[in-house]
Amino acid sequence: MNIQHRPRRLRRSAVLRDLVAENRVHANQLVMPHFCLNEESAREAISSMPGIERLGRKELVEQVRADLALGIRSVLLFGLAGSGEKDAAGTKCSDDDGAVPLAVRALKAEFGADLVVMTDVCLCAYTDHGHCGVIENGEVKNDPSLELLAGMALAHARAGADVVSPSDMMDGRVDAIREKLDDNGFENITIMAYSAKYASAYYGPFRDAADSAPSGSANVPKDRKTYQMDSRNRWEARREAGLDEAEGADILMVKPGLAYLDIIAEVSGMTNLPVAVYNVSGEYSMVKAAAERGWINEPEVVRENLHAFVRAGANIIITYHAREALQGDWL
Ligand code: PBG
Ligand code: ZN
Repeated sequence: MNIQHRPRRLRRSAVLRDLVAENRVHANQLVMPHFCLNEESAREAISSMPGIERLGRKELVEQVRADLALGIRSVLLFGLAGSGEKDAAGTKCSDDDGAVPLAVRALKAEFGADLVVMTDVCLCAYTDHGHCGVIENGEVKNDPSLELLAGMALAHARAGADVVSPSDMMDGRVDAIREKLDDNGFENITIMAYSAKYASAYYGPFRDAADSAPSGSANVPKDRKTYQMDSRNRWEARREAGLDEAEGADILMVKPGLAYLDIIAEVSGMTNLPVAVYNVSGEYSMVKAAAERGWINEPEVVRENLHAFVRAGANIIITYHAREALQGDWL
C-alpha cells in the first residue's frame, strides 16, 4: 500500500509544528482586567477568583509595572463603589474622584503612552439594585440610562483613558457615548463595545469581585435577561455587532468566550474592525478550580483556550490568565 497523503509529516517535531502553526498568541494581544478600589493603598483577595485581587492605586501601579515587564501593555479597569456610595441611578459612576478615574490618572502619570488604559463603562457597580441601567416600575429602562453611561465615559476620558468600553447592553449607547465624547473634544478616544454580550452564568465570580450582582429584591429584576443576549441566538449577534459598528464603535467584543467561539467567528467574518473576546471570570475560575484539584494541566489548558480564541477570529483577548500565561511561558 502506498499512502500518498501524510498530514503527520508536518507534526514530526516541535520545531516543524511551530513552523506550520496557523495561529499564534502574542503578548501584545492580551488585556489584563483589574478591580480598582477607591483607596490609596489596599489589597483584597477574591475568594472565587484565585490569583486575582482588588487593588488600591499604589498596588495597582506596582502590579501594572510588573505586568508591563512581562509584556502586558493593556489593562481593563473595573471600579468598586465606596461604602454608602450606591444609589438608584448609580450617580457616582461619573464622579471624577471615583475609583476608576483616579486609577486611570495614577496609571497614566506613571506609564503614559506605554500603557493602553481601557475602562469598563456600566452602572451595575454603582446602582444599589445592581442593574446596568436605571429601574422604573420594576423595569430596566433604556433611554434614561444612556445619559448616565455617556457621563461615565466622559469622566473616564477626562481622566485620560485611551479606550472606554460599554458593557451595559442598552440600545444606542455607543451612539450616545460617541456623541458625548466628541462634543467634549475627545474625538480620538476609542470605543470598544461589548457588542455580543450574552446573559451568562459565567459572570458569577466577577459579580463577587465587583459587588455588582442584581439584588433581586422587591421590584428589581433578578437577572439581566431583558438587556443581555439570549444564549440560544447567533443571528442576533450579527445584528448587535452591526448596530455597534454603525454607531461608531472602533472595536467589537464577544463575551463570554469559550461557549461562544462560533459567535467570535461570526462577528470576525462580518466586520473589518478588530474583534475582542472576553475570557470571563467563570471560565477562569473553572480552570483554576480543576487545576487546584490536579484534574487538569493548567498551562496546557490555558494555552489551548487562548489559541481557540485566535483561531475563531479574535485579535484581542481580555483574560485573567494573562499574567500567569506570560510568567510561565505557557503560550
Ligand atoms: C458589568 C460587567 C460584567 C462583566 C464585565 N462587565 C458582569 C455582568 O454583566 O454582570 C463580566 C466579566 C467577567 O465575568 O469576568 N456589566
Ligand atoms: Zn453592568
